[in-house]
Amino acid sequence: MKTPKLNLTRKEFDKVYEPCEDSFLFLDLLEQEIGYLKELDPLKILEVGSGSGIIITFIAQLLGNDRCYFSTDINPFACKATLKTTILNNVNVDIINTKFIDGINQKFDLCLFNPPYVVTTNEEITGDLQRSWAGGIDGRVVIDEFLSRLDDITRVCYLLVINENNPNEIMEIMNSRGWKSEKVIYRAVGWEGQSILKFVKQ
Ligand SMILES: C[S@@+](CC[C@H](N)C(=O)[O-])C[C@H]1O[C@@H](n2cnc3c(N)ncnc32)[C@H](O)[C@@H]1O
Repeated sequence: MKTPKLNLTRKEFDKVYEPCEDSFLFLDLLEQEIGYLKELDPLKILEVGSGSGIIITFIAQLLGNDRCYFSTDINPFACKATLKTTILNNVNVDIINTKFIDGINQKFDLCLFNPPYVVTTNEEITGDLQRSWAGGIDGRVVIDEFLSRLDDITRVCYLLVINENNPNEIMEIMNSRGWKSEKVIYRAVGWEGQSILKFVKQ
C-alpha cells in the first residue's frame, strides 16, 4: 500500500506532529495485521491523536470506504491537518477536536493510538506541539489515562509504546483488567525500541 499523500507546510508542522518512524511503524503494522483486520471486519474505526492524519487515512485506504472512520486530537491544528490530508486522499473521516473521546457517546470496533510516549516531567505536558510527544513520568501519563478508559472506548486497540514505558508491565496491567495483550511488532530506532501492543477484550 502506498503511504498517503501529505501537503502540509513547514508552518503547519510547527504546530502539528510530523510523521516519523513511529507513524511509519504503525502503517507497517496495519499492513501486517490485514488478515486479522479483515476477519474482525470493524464498522466503526477510531484513531485517537491523529496529528497529520497519516494513520487514519492509511487505514481508510486499506479497509475501504464502506466503513465509518473517526479521529480525535486534543490539538485543533492537528484536526485541521487531518482534514486536509483526508480530503487530499479522498477518504471520509469524522474529525473531532477533543481529549481521547470526551463528549463522544459512542464505542468503536477498533481504536489506534500513537501516543505521546517520551519520558519528561509532568509539567512538560503542555502546548500544542509538545503535547504530541511529552509523556510525563515514564512516558506513561497519557498512556495510563487512555488505558484506564479503554473499556468505554473499544474492544480492540493498537497502542505504540517505547521500552522506557515498560511494555511488559502495561500488558500485565491490561491482562489483569480482562484484556488479552500481545506485542505485535517491534523496531529498534536508534537508541529507542518501539513496539505496538494489541489489546483484545476477553
Ligand atoms: C505522537 S503524535 C502522533 C500523531 C500521528 N498519529 C502520527 O502517528 O503521526 C500524538 C498525537 O496525539 C495527540 N494527543 C495527545 N494527547 C491527546 C489526548 N489526550 N487526546 C487526544 N489526542 C491527544 C497529539 O496532539 C498528537 O497529535
